[in-house]
Amino acid sequence: MLIWIINGPNLNLLGRREPEIYGHRSFEQYFEELKAAFPRLDLRYFQSNHEGAILDHLQSIGFGQSDGLVFNPAAFTHTSIAIGDCLAAIQLPCVEVHISDIYKREAFRHHSYIKPYCIDSIVGQGLDGYRSAVAKLSEYLSAREARTQS
Ligand code: DQA
Repeated sequence: MLIWIINGPNLNLLGRREPEIYGHRSFEQYFEELKAAFPRLDLRYFQSNHEGAILDHLQSIGFGQSDGLVFNPAAFTHTSIAIGDCLAAIQLPCVEVHISDIYKREAFRHHSYIKPYCIDSIVGQGLDGYRSAVAKLSEYLSAREARTQS
């Protein structure tokens, strides 16, 4: 199973960025642990600070080119109709992740343009939220595969 993890703007600064909110580890460090936790999955990682680059990447992995997506669009969550439209278009099961609990922060973080296009949304679990999201997604994909085979 090929699953992409995509992080949006400023998440390349994890470990250095507001550690009291986002923790002390970089995503690159954490990603090694994540891959080790799911040895049977093909996990790949993409991060960009640019909305257009994220859209191009989403389009390139959709339409059957991969099996699923774990996605933290960071600030674009709250602003990007284009990213929501893209998720609606590409037919790729997606789990939304936020390291912090966006619903307990400023009001402008309470709305997500991507949530309607996701099979689940995980917030406030720190970096471990990515692990929960990969587990959710692989369960969902296995159940879907079992249904199509029966
Ligand atoms: C975030 C929450 C967003 O509101 C914020 O803009 C981020 C990170 C999170 O992971 O908690 O950059 O997506």
